[in-house]
Amino acid sequence: MKRVAIITSSDSGYRGEREDVSGPTIKEIVEANGYQVVSMIVLPDDREILGNEMIRIADENQAELILTTGGTGFSPRDCMPEATEDIIERRVPGIPEAMRAYSIQFTKRAMLSRATAGIRKETLIVNLPGSPKAVRECLEYIVGSLDHGIDILTGEASNCARK
Ligand code: MTE
Repeated sequence: MKRVAIITSSDSGYRGEREDVSGPTIKEIVEANGYQVVSMIVLPDDREILGNEMIRIADENQAELILTTGGTGFSPRDCMPEATEDIIERRVPGIPEAMRAYSIQFTKRAMLSRATAGIRKETLIVNLPGSPKAVRECLEYIVGSLDHGIDILTGEASNCARK
């Protein structure tokens, strides 16, 4: 069973002023798709704190997949893409490109998400937007395709070109 760690980036959620609905939404969707959730945490919109948590999960091999929610917009504190880019070793631009292209049918504001994705060691990291609605729209679209990438990353599947 592939393991997922969920990180919510939210100052107000971290202070307990706002209930985290997006983290549990991710949990529901990944569990329905056969993943095991190993951790779920709400952290402040802080580039270093977010980056350190992603480093810890990847370097301790705690999960094959990290899904983040929030902090991808334009607010001055939004820093999830920067925190992710700080710590990934390889970029995976196709995933956020696909999410944005697909999401335009729901709202043109999808173009405002600065979400990124990348790989650190044997862990794939994907940013999702912050609202539960956006999480559901984006994650349900990409979740079925992540499996194959993770299988190649962890050596469970061979590289497609070498078959
Ligand atoms: N993507 C989908 N599929 N559905 C949405 O409703 N909202 C957009 C965008 N992506 C949205 C979406 C909006 S309004 C913003 S501002 C950005 O995601 C960034 O969201 P965040 O700051 O909550 O991460």
